[in-house]
Amino acid sequence: MTGLESEETQVRRAVCPGSFDPITNGHLDIISRASRLYDEVYVAVMINKSKKGLFDVEERLDLIRQVTAEYSNVRVESFHGLLVDFCKQRDIPAIVKGLRAVSDFDYELQMAQMNNGLSGVETLFIPTNPTYSFLSSSLVKEVAAWGGDVSHLVPPQVLEALVRRLRKD
Ligand code: PNS
Repeated sequence: MTGLESEETQVRRAVCPGSFDPITNGHLDIISRASRLYDEVYVAVMINKSKKGLFDVEERLDLIRQVTAEYSNVRVESFHGLLVDFCKQRDIPAIVKGLRAVSDFDYELQMAQMNNGLSGVETLFIPTNPTYSFLSSSLVKEVAAWGGDVSHLVPPQVLEALVRRLRKD
């Protein structure tokens, strides 16, 4: 093994997966905390052709890249298919997820166990900052669509994109 390879194997990588339609302050909190724990953090945006979002995948990627620009070890990519295949292709041994409340736990536990059984990838849960424990992209979209103030729940670039998109419809 060359010196370069042994250094390479020591890079600690993790992935923060999701739909991110759009990214919220809750997501950003988890991504920024993961970026302090790992050498490289991939933000992986799931492509779901059967579900049309408010933003298309390219728009979501663009927004995430803008709001994570300050984290030099964060990379933003899309994927379709199984998350464990995304992990395998990039040598990522860990999935990092935020847990907002007990209600998140059942499904997250199922996915963590399935992913571990499929490929050995581990899932690590970070408790969400209580400020964002009620927050989801769906609720942000609903509140914004009815003219409610979501400026404290999403980064300014996302707020601007939301206002522009909802005004168009
Ligand atoms: O933001 P979301 O919609 O809660 O994210 C869900 C996501 C993308 C993490 C999950 O649906 C996923 O991992 N999808 C990829 C397909 C896959 O691997 N399915 C098996 C999960 S056990």
